[in-house]
Amino acid sequence: MSPSAASPAQTVPAARRALPGAPFLAAARGEHPARTPVWFMRQAGRSLPEYRALREGTSMFDACFDPEMLAEITLQPIRRHGVDAAILFSDIVVPLKAAGLDIDIVAGTGPVVAEPIRDAAGVRALPVLDPEQVERVADGVRLLVASLGETPLIGFAGAPFTLASYLIEGGPSRNHEHTKALMHSEPELWHELAGRLADMAITFLSAQLDAGADAIQLFDSWAGALSERDYREFVLPHSAKVLSAVAAYGVPRIHFGVGTGELLVAMRDAGADVVGVDWRIPLDEAVRRLGGGVVQGNLDPALLHASWPVLEAEVRRIHAEGRAADGHIFNLGHGVLPGVDPDVLTRVVGLVHELQP
Ligand code: CP3
Repeated sequence: MSPSAASPAQTVPAARRALPGAPFLAAARGEHPARTPVWFMRQAGRSLPEYRALREGTSMFDACFDPEMLAEITLQPIRRHGVDAAILFSDIVVPLKAAGLDIDIVAGTGPVVAEPIRDAAGVRALPVLDPEQVERVADGVRLLVASLGETPLIGFAGAPFTLASYLIEGGPSRNHEHTKALMHSEPELWHELAGRLADMAITFLSAQLDAGADAIQLFDSWAGALSERDYREFVLPHSAKVLSAVAAYGVPRIHFGVGTGELLVAMRDAGADVVGVDWRIPLDEAVRRLGGGVVQGNLDPALLHASWPVLEAEVRRIHAEGRAADGHIFNLGHGVLPGVDPDVLTRVVGLVHELQP
């Protein structure tokens, strides 16, 4: 199958849940729900003892391709914390693994590829994702929408730049030097790779949306390593292709990266309905840069380790600064760190829900 035949989202399921009372969806539309919605990136996973117990003896990928297990892990933080949205338990490299690439998730490190992709032969050898290959993920989504009640489900994919960085560097990278070198030295090859990764993200997101996901988040976690000029030239067209391909579903599209204060406008211009903001700039400043709109964020995940009075003051500050936006979805500025006390997360949810929107 050609990449383009595998990618565009043409069918929009009639059975999408309406969820008129969901504060997360209302805030994402720029309305003002009765309470500020809150969820946490990486809310499923290692901060929860019930997660560690369930995962015992099962590899990360095996968990991600087991519909019952991925659904159960997705539900754990909903039950425990009462958050306003579920995020699918999966990983940004799941579509690469599903398509047949030799990639592993190494505990404490992250995704590692057997053969880094640095030349034309490597780019052309990248497999194309067939929707059939993520059918078990879609099965998990169907289980979830049947059991989540009024809580929306956020599907997600990794954006082309962040995925390309793992593939080109061979694993997590501080400086992204091979990625930036290839981007500038061989721009045509870069665009071919990013285009293929965009097609893969479209297929992965469409599978989740066809199965009933209520929103999507495009994670461009490491885009903050780029200048705005490079982002607009080398990355934005590919992320825009992903976001526009799923526009017809009519669900909120969140676009997030770390250290992207200088890129917020560009990331919105790529086609986002909601812009994710990390903790490095205040939300009211983010809203000023964006000229309005809906934002998601931005508690520093490290402060979940601080004393409650310190954390409470931070939550109140962020909540107040979020009032500058047309809609505010409370979240962290990046994912939950593994060592966090889960009771602290539950307490943050309670506080956000108490505060006057
Ligand atoms: O709430 C959730 O946990 C949702 C599921 C989720 C995971 N990864 C589960 C996971 C989501 C949304 C992701 C996305 C993801 N994966 C991103 C984008 C978000 C971000 O953090 O910026 C990135 C960059 C990855 C790549 C990746 N996968 C990393 C850096 C790691 C951590 C490696 C480690 O062990 O420290 C992973 C593995 C991973 N993904 C784990 C989980 C729960 C840990 C593996 C385990 O529990 O065995």
